[in-house]
Amino acid sequence: MKQKKLLYTGKAKSVYRTDAKGTLIVEFRDDITAFDGGKKDTLKNKGSYNAGVSAFFFSYLEKNGVKTHFLEMLDENRMAVRELSMIPLEVIVRNFAAGSIVRNYPFVEGSPLKPPVIVIDYKDDSRHDPMLNDELIVALKLATPTELKKIKTIALKINTLLVGLLAKEGITLVDFKLEFGRQNKTIYLGDEISMDSMRLWDKKTGESLDKDVYRFNKGDVMATYNRVAARITRAPKTASAGKKAKSSKKPEKRTR
Ligand code: ATP
Ligand code: TYD
Repeated sequence: MKQKKLLYTGKAKSVYRTDAKGTLIVEFRDDITAFDGGKKDTLKNKGSYNAGVSAFFFSYLEKNGVKTHFLEMLDENRMAVRELSMIPLEVIVRNFAAGSIVRNYPFVEGSPLKPPVIVIDYKDDSRHDPMLNDELIVALKLATPTELKKIKTIALKINTLLVGLLAKEGITLVDFKLEFGRQNKTIYLGDEISMDSMRLWDKKTGESLDKDVYRFNKGDVMATYNRVAARITRAPKTASAGKKAKSSKKPEKRTR
């Protein structure tokens, strides 16, 4: 497959056309940003860790009946994906109170949310991604009521699968963000599931294992990403892991 023209450059990924119809290439760059782009850096190898973890999760979800955009890894940073018409929603699933939900509402940090809370933001940087509700989503024609119901059902299924998978590696899935898109009329999971889009806590120590290390200068970001990527991608022994994920390189073996 040949990479063709650049379609879009986001904050951490670039999207390219290919010579294959309906297939795009997503490149995970080494850029990292936080606070609405207010904090920015480039960290060597970061893109490959997030790409590897995303590929691993997408393969695992596919094996468990979730339709994702993932096709294959092309190298450490680039994955071939189904071209989707993206739905501009950030679908956040929360199992424990942390981050903006603690800043904006009277939740105590770390308190369990049972059942999990789904929060959906409008993906629009110029408006600073305001929170939506079901009526607004339908009124703005971002999704039909049926699609919205489906998106929430898929998000909760993904949550159950990932909570279980990560628990086996001693990791708590605190919260995470998903993006969905359509190909014809089918809804697929798109974008990424990585240390940039999840909040992960070590079950024993409570230590942050995600982008909060960068946001709040909690330590060596790349050492954390390397370690957590290795922990997550060795999970296949514990569950029906994906064939495709095995083709992505193991972070621990990287020497550069
Ligand atoms: P944010 O960081 O808030 O997610 P961004 O747009 O800057 O926003 P990037 O991850 O850097 O995010 O860019 C990747 C872009 O590619 C996003 O706009 C995402 O919605 C889009 N995208 C992801 N998967 C697909 C896909 N399968 N088809 C088309 N576009 C996709
Ligand atoms: P949230 O607590 O709303 O934001 P913040 O981390 O700024 O306090 O984030 C909840 C989860 O969703 C967290 O794991 C990060 C992820 N997320 C993204 O990946 N992108 C986003 O634009 C947002 C708002 C959240």
